Formats: sequence, C-alpha cells, structure tokens
Amino acid sequence: MALREIITVPHPTLRRNARKVTDFGPDLQTLIDDMVETMRVAPGVGLAATQVDVPLQVIVVEFGDEDDETVKPSLYTLVNPEILRPSRETIIGTEGCLSIPNLIGDVERSESITVKALTRRGQPTKIKAHGWLARIFQHEIDHLNGVLFTDRAEQVWQPDTESGQVALAD
Ligand code: NI
Repeated sequence: MALREIITVPHPTLRRNARKVTDFGPDLQTLIDDMVETMRVAPGVGLAATQVDVPLQVIVVEFGDEDDETVKPSLYTLVNPEILRPSRETIIGTEGCLSIPNLIGDVERSESITVKALTRRGQPTKIKAHGWLARIFQHEIDHLNGVLFTDRAEQVWQPDTESGQVALAD
C-alpha cells in the first residue's frame, strides 16, 4: 500500500465526471487499498478517487455510530455508487473537505438515503444510511460528479481553530 497525494482546489480533476469502473483487477484493488490508507492518515472520514487524481467512480468511507463511540467504525468501499430514494427530509450540517483546506460550510443534505453500488470485487450491494453516514456518502458521491460542498453551501467560513471547532473532513 502507498499513500497518494490528495489534490486540492483548483485542480481540474476535482471538476471531472468520474468514469464507471469496468475492470476489477489488480489496479483497482491497489487504488482502493491506497485510498483507505490515505484517508486514514489524512485523517478523514471519506475519500473519492477523484481526490487522488483518478477519475473513476470509487469512494471509501470510514465512520462509526454517531450515537455510540464504542462502536468500531465501519469501512465502506463503494464502486459505481448511485443514490436511491433520497429522503425529502433534509438536515443542515457543517462539512469540510480534504481537497479544500481551511474552509468549512453548512450544507443541506437528505437525512437518509439508500446507496446502490458494487463492492471492490464487483458484487452488487445496497446500503441504507442516515444522519452523518448519509451525509458523507452524499458528499463523496458529489465528488464523482465534480461537485464540491462549497457549491452547495449557503455560507462557508474558516474554522475557528482556537475554539477547537472541527468539522468532519472528507
Ligand atoms: Ni470532500
């Protein structure tokens, strides 16, 4: 495994539409392993392949139960993910992004979604998510369409590091 460089704005790859994955061979497996390592070291709760300058529809997310910190975080690797049934109910939350250093913002997202995707081995899977996990999936899937949280945020600001306020970075 190896760390990959996380690109930042205004790198043009962040604005590309990622291509669907059709080859589940060793190159994809290496990409996914590298993305997981890169996300953990950053540290972040999610990473899209476009953020490591690879325009393929791959995301990794690692996030625990928001109501119970003793639950070990789950790792999700999703290939060609699609959002199904976004809830009409929305919720506003503060997001950051590893590709947009020193900026956070409030973004309105669906409170719950179902994500249809393929696993890293190409098997179909579906995940129901709500709350922060749903938010992270929506943020990462946006990356695959060249959309950044700053496009959706009603306002953005620099985090007040002195107060220790930290947003989840993905
Ligand atoms: Ni991001």
